Amino acid sequence: MKKRILVTGGTGYIGSHTVVELQNNGYEVIIVDNLSNSRAEVVDSIEKITGIRPAFEKVDCLDYAGMDAVFSKYPGIKGIIHFAASKAVGESVQKPLLYYRNNLVSLINLLELMPKHEVEGIIFSSSCTVYGQPDKLPVTEQAPIKKAESPYGNTKQINEEIIRDTVASGAPIQAILLRYFNPIGAHPTALIGELPNGVPQNLVPYLTQTAMGIREKLSVFGDDYNTPDGSCIRDYIYVVDLAKAHVIAMNRIMDKKQKEKVEVFNIGTGRGVSVLELIHAFESATGVKLNYQITGRRAGDIEQVWADPSFANNELGWKADTTIEETLRSAWNWQVKLREEGIQ
Ligand code: NAD
Ligand code: WQD
Repeated sequence: MKKRILVTGGTGYIGSHTVVELQNNGYEVIIVDNLSNSRAEVVDSIEKITGIRPAFEKVDCLDYAGMDAVFSKYPGIKGIIHFAASKAVGESVQKPLLYYRNNLVSLINLLELMPKHEVEGIIFSSSCTVYGQPDKLPVTEQAPIKKAESPYGNTKQINEEIIRDTVASGAPIQAILLRYFNPIGAHPTALIGELPNGVPQNLVPYLTQTAMGIREKLSVFGDDYNTPDGSCIRDYIYVVDLAKAHVIAMNRIMDKKQKEKVEVFNIGTGRGVSVLELIHAFESATGVKLNYQITGRRAGDIEQVWADPSFANNELGWKADTTIEETLRSAWNWQVKLREEGIQ
């Protein structure tokens, strides 16, 4: 009998890739998504990839009764992966209350519903943003949590505390917090990938849209940082490697292998790559020349961060080993597919 997993935000970028890996590993997946930042057609694409159509319920995680009804409609849900959130840092500064409501109340609803429906565990999408600019690199899970640079980052910090406090209160649940670094790339089939609404805020979708001629030029936000080539450094992780980490984490919960009721893992490659290095890697991986210019720094950017993923490597037996070139090729193949299908 397949174990039932609820994936909130499952038609989104990381969620859709995770649904594919969950299905490939024998889980039965129910997707809940309000389609505020994704399309229902993603369900068709997932089915094309795996041959299995996940159940899909268009429900808002803020709708307690609606979520309660989902758990009743699909009895026996054993685990949740909670991707659903608003995630644009800049927008969160303009609309803090939207972010606090969406990102906090959606989690609170799930945590309240879990004991009622005997759901054993939850995996939460956290972010390296909780570290701010670390004092020491690579950054480990023991690094201090710094004052968030944005309401978005603050919601991730508060979410982690809400989970810890709920478990500490004796709630019959356990949790794994996965702190993602910078997910990029697309599924090798180019059937799913990142599809940002409007002008992309993140580097790689803006880069591939520039390479496709949708954007005129990529701006490199600053080359006067204290890094080898002056541009910011990040830990760019292939989204499929990230998705696979969720399957291993869910197995850990289902097989009752957790050593603590709340565990935290850095999900990164452990390799720092600068903006300029990424641009050159894209050009050599795809043969496509990129039109870019150096401009001023972007407010709120931290200079450099990359993960120490050894805890996840050793404890989960998981490693992100896809090269940056292969990852960027997948991002480009996805952008080409979007053009072929007239989507972008
Ligand atoms: P995404 O926007 O592609 O996916 C989020 C999905 O959640 C979307 O499909 C959206 O429609 C849905 N959603 C939002 N609010 C909802 C609600 N109230 N009810 C139901 N569905 C709702 O984003 P993503 O990049 O896949 O990120 C997934 C998670 O990972 C988010 O929690 C994000 O904060 C976190 N994260 C993302 C990154 C990144 O760089 N992409 C990095 C670290 C953490
Ligand atoms: C990466 C680098 C930019 C665009 C953000 C959120 C984080 C997480 C991931 C949700 C930076 C530079 C970018 C461009 C550029 N999201 N850049 N030109 O800022 O590391 O992280 O997304 O959880 O919380 O903060 O990612 O892709 O925006 O930027 O030079 O047009 O690329 O300055 O150094 P970031 P990013």
